[in-house]
Amino acid sequence: MNQSPPVPLILVVAVASNGVIGGDNRLLWKLRSDMRHFRDLTMGKPMIMGRKTFESIGKPLPGRETIVVTRRGASFPAGVHVANDLEAALELGQVRARAMGADGVIVAGGAEIYRALMERCDRLEVTEVALEPEGDAIFPAINANSWREVSREAHPPGEGDEVPFTFVGYERQNRA
Ligand SMILES: NC(=O)c1ccc[n+]([C@@H]2O[C@H](COP(=O)([O-])OP(=O)(O)OC[C@H]3O[C@@H](n4cnc5c(N)ncnc54)[C@H](OP(=O)(O)O)[C@@H]3O)[C@@H](O)[C@H]2O)c1
Repeated sequence: MNQSPPVPLILVVAVASNGVIGGDNRLLWKLRSDMRHFRDLTMGKPMIMGRKTFESIGKPLPGRETIVVTRRGASFPAGVHVANDLEAALELGQVRARAMGADGVIVAGGAEIYRALMERCDRLEVTEVALEPEGDAIFPAINANSWREVSREAHPPGEGDEVPFTFVGYERQNRA
């Protein structure tokens, strides 16, 4: 019997001022500080991502476990976990987090996966990027009834950063 509470689901995303998160299946900015932030948030945890985002990254990221969601019977590199629907991905996330001793399961995108799983998440870790690029992947609106902002940290561009950015944390409120 498993009585332990679920491991929290943490959505991590970088979003431009106009809601764009990517275009032609790639990121549209260079922000070395945000790459570091992403690494710190995700290290040692399982990450759920859509097949397109996995293809965009191109390989499993070291120190994390990758769970790719796909409806296809495609093959993936050794070490990548595959889930054929969202419930299987969430379940696998719990199992792998417990096996790794992780205190979170990461929802790592892209747009389709964020849309499907945002309301299931416990925390959002959003990097607001001061750009308005054209792109075809859009982050859903953050519903103020569901989410409470708990932290906000603005940064000027550092070395390797194209533009200013702000780290914003949200916690779920009013869970149904
Ligand atoms: N800025 C950021 O923080 C960030 C983070 C991540 C990604 N991105 C960007 O987001 C874009 C990709 O997003 P996207 O929306 O095009 O694709 P995506 O969400 O990465 O992947 C979509 C794919 O996931 C699979 N999928 C989705 N729902 C499923 C379900 N219910 N059951 C089984 N499989 C399911 C399907 O794969 P199959 O077609 O194989 O069945 C679908 O084609 C890229 O531009 C990327 O750079 C940005």
